[in-house]
Amino acid sequence: MNRVEDEGIIEDADTMTGLVEAAMRNTPDPRLRQILLALVRHSHAFLREVRLTDQEFEQGHAFLRAVGESCTDLHNEVVLLADVLGISTLVTLLNGCGGERTSGALLGPFFRDGAPRFENGANIAASGSPGLPLVVRVKVVNTRREPIAGATVDVWQASPVGLYENQDPEQPEMNLRGQFRTNDNGEFYFHSVCPAGYPVPTHGPVGALLAAQKRHPYRPAHIHFLVVAPGYATLVTQVFADDSDHLGSDVVFGVTRDLVGRYELREGTASSACDGPHYSLEYEFVLAEGESFRPVPPIK
Ligand code: BEZ
Ligand code: FE
Repeated sequence: MNRVEDEGIIEDADTMTGLVEAAMRNTPDPRLRQILLALVRHSHAFLREVRLTDQEFEQGHAFLRAVGESCTDLHNEVVLLADVLGISTLVTLLNGCGGERTSGALLGPFFRDGAPRFENGANIAASGSPGLPLVVRVKVVNTRREPIAGATVDVWQASPVGLYENQDPEQPEMNLRGQFRTNDNGEFYFHSVCPAGYPVPTHGPVGALLAAQKRHPYRPAHIHFLVVAPGYATLVTQVFADDSDHLGSDVVFGVTRDLVGRYELREGTASSACDGPHYSLEYEFVLAEGESFRPVPPIK
């Protein structure tokens, strides 16, 4: 009789998870091993709970395939899926929130590298951009409230009709995007136009998922900030307009209480570049000490 090597032979569904976990345990990299073991444990528990039919399992494959296939250099459906499931925000909050630092918020699928570098006080809206003028004054400090000079701050926002420049043939390349450096007081300011809330892209499978859930696709109006300073944990965040719709129902769960900014209507002169009624936003970013990094842009 042949010797049967029966250690890995599956008896039934109950013994499956242990066998798969045993296979994961040989992974040499300890962090990858930890992640794979937890992935197997939780995904198998999920399957035991929901009991997918074979047809539903096929639908899941087709959905993930469609998510991948709808990605281009200008559109990232994978990031969008993580966003509408609350995964992006949870990762962000688990990695750096609480204490005195400013809360992080998801990077989103529209961050691009190569935004124009601007001097303090510049206007990131191309001349002729429609919309109410907005002046944004930013201060970057550490948790002892000392100014952080020389921080690099990327700013990007949607237009007053709710489109990023890469989505909108009416806007010039890199409109409403810019990179600034904080001065010795940790400060800089810029001119822009008020952002509008907008629907996330719904042309792909993630849009179909939202429709199947009867969820609206809207985000409240906001401006994105990426603050990078050596010796400090990078802050990826957004500041929301306090008068915006959908603050309490952001489709990607991005609104943390400290990120609701006061967009105030002012009548007087803001600067030589803005002498009529305008909105004003002042915001202080508090960075925790840590390692800085620059996120990989989801699109080109
Ligand atoms: C954004 O804020 O740019 C964004 C975030 C998630 C999905 C779509 C857009
Ligand atoms: Fe956005």
